[in-house]
Amino acid sequence: IPTERVRNFCIISHVDHGKSTLADRMLEMTGAARPGEREAQSLDSLAVERSRGITIKAQTVSLLHEDEEGERWLLNLIDTPGHVDFSYEVSRSLAACQGALLLVDSTKGVQAQTVANFWLAFEQSIEIVPVINKVDLPHANVEGTRAQMRAVFDEKDALPISAKTGQGCGALFPALLRSVPPPPGRRDAPLRLLLFDSWYDDYRGVLCLVQVLDGTLALGSQIVSAASAKTYAVQQIELMRPAGPVPLPALAAGQVACVALGMKHIQEASVGDTFSDPAAPQPALPGFQKPQPMVFAGMYPLEGEGFDALQHAMSRFLLKDGSVTVEPESSPTLGQGLRCGFLGLLHLEVVQQRLQQEHDMEVLLTSPTVPLRATLKDGSQLEVRSPEALAQLKLEDALVSLNEPLVKVTILSPSEYVGGLITLCEESGGQLLSQSFLSAEHAMLQYSLPLAEIATEFHDRLKTLSSGYASFDYEPHGEQPADVVPLGLHVNKRPVGALTRIVRSSKATDFGRAMVQTLKEEMDRTVHDIVIQATVGSRVVARETVRAVRKNVLAKCYGGDISRKKKLLEKQKAGKKRASLHVGDVAIPHEAFVKVLAPS
Ligand code: GTP
Repeated sequence: IPTERVRNFCIISHVDHGKSTLADRMLEMTGAARPGEREAQSLDSLAVERSRGITIKAQTVSLLHEDEEGERWLLNLIDTPGHVDFSYEVSRSLAACQGALLLVDSTKGVQAQTVANFWLAFEQSIEIVPVINKVDLPHANVEGTRAQMRAVFDEKDALPISAKTGQGCGALFPALLRSVPPPPGRRDAPLRLLLFDSWYDDYRGVLCLVQVLDGTLALGSQIVSAASAKTYAVQQIELMRPAGPVPLPALAAGQVACVALGMKHIQEASVGDTFSDPAAPQPALPGFQKPQPMVFAGMYPLEGEGFDALQHAMSRFLLKDGSVTVEPESSPTLGQGLRCGFLGLLHLEVVQQRLQQEHDMEVLLTSPTVPLRATLKDGSQLEVRSPEALAQLKLEDALVSLNEPLVKVTILSPSEYVGGLITLCEESGGQLLSQSFLSAEHAMLQYSLPLAEIATEFHDRLKTLSSGYASFDYEPHGEQPADVVPLGLHVNKRPVGALTRIVRSSKATDFGRAMVQTLKEEMDRTVHDIVIQATVGSRVVARETVRAVRKNVLAKCYGGDISRKKKLLEKQKAGKKRASLHVGDVAIPHEAFVKVLAPS
């Protein structure tokens, strides 16, 4: 198929607005799938994606479409991850597209990820085809949604459709062919290849999704990576057809396919990397970067599983997800573990879930920490990635300054909740960047906020304050001096390093109180008092005591009530089993740890 009849496009939308349903509908319309084959055909292939109903890893499918004149077109539907944690992947997937269907749920209206993804697409000069979905529902508000889209994107002719029933979908392909230009690449130019997604296949190793930007990629040829300067042989080229891969001898400019390059590690397949002919090497596309971890947390094996099991599971997991960073870490209470870096909080949650689902590995994660940039008295700079590291620097009085990452948060919400949301942002140390109304009932706020605030209770409070109606998204937005302290926890005067967290100075006392209270509630009583303290440096900011069990509770059992004594012993046994973390002679139940570490 000639380049003029190739279209590369993606669907951008907020979570749950119907992206996967529309993708399946398009597969069905091109004869690729029969109705009801969703599970087998689904573009969302990871178990986590299915259980959470979100798209994480971009996947792509090539569709053949025949227009009214009988002309055949190759339509590459490039599936982009919708969530901001993966915004780098989104932008790289977009680099392979010339068009995007901007999908908005007519019962919900424009939401935060719609706006964030729209701007990503707009910045890359991608042609937008606006679409209003779920018009089959009785409470669909097509005109209201259209007005909002006009206010934010200046888009007028949105197509009303129902991805579910197929209503209006017939207009999609003609609109795509009309509005979206063919890929700009030249077949006679030197080879340039963009890698925009990669994954690990258990049987075939690393597979890469690529688009030929210029030239022609031939099976068996050698190509060189701009990122690593390593050379690879092209072992396989496959068109990703819905029914399965179709091997190809070559791939021309503008086209998209899956290639096997014999890479051993997923880290070699950097999303955004450019490949070219070693005889005529080409520079990387501008904007290429390695994804940067935004959130760090300690990862420890949960009861029963040893550190070896964790390491083994993690090393297998890293074959599949190269964006997690891992360093060894150890804690007096939790033992040996790993300090991991994640792209964001959703990524952290997804990794934790995938370790459990795919590797049967339950882990405990310590309080998420954003990377802080420290300047030391000796003039050096350092990235602080754990509360313990910050506590140590404070103890040594080694710091000159400390900077924390900021994010630009976009919040969309029904107008009635705006007052509460403004208060929330201000309490979280936010600076207002802009406020506008998409309609009389719908407002958009943009704030600059410390990333650390997003990493804690922000999301929950936003949802509570707006009865679940507000949506938000964020992107990196520079940094600012950080007014933070390590908040430590002591049990019977012994520090519990694993429970240290970094908090805003002004919130240390409140957080301290909440932490000691939670721990007190979760601790088993023993024959001695247990003193729990929250500290900042040497200052105690909160304190609670778990009172000792009175001795006569046990003494009573000797009165002959055998069954009661048995019960008590059983209870003790069960208590012992779950209390595997010891601080001095005090046992802290796992659940207590998990509760204290929970973000809010
Ligand atoms: P992410 O993958 O998380 O981004 O979600 P998504 O945008 O792919 O949403 P998905 O296609 O999974 O649809 C979300 C829900 O909306 C599902 O329950 C769909 O059945 C439903 N849905 C999608 N399109 C329509 C539609 O046109 N009409 C109706 N009534 N329901 C729809």
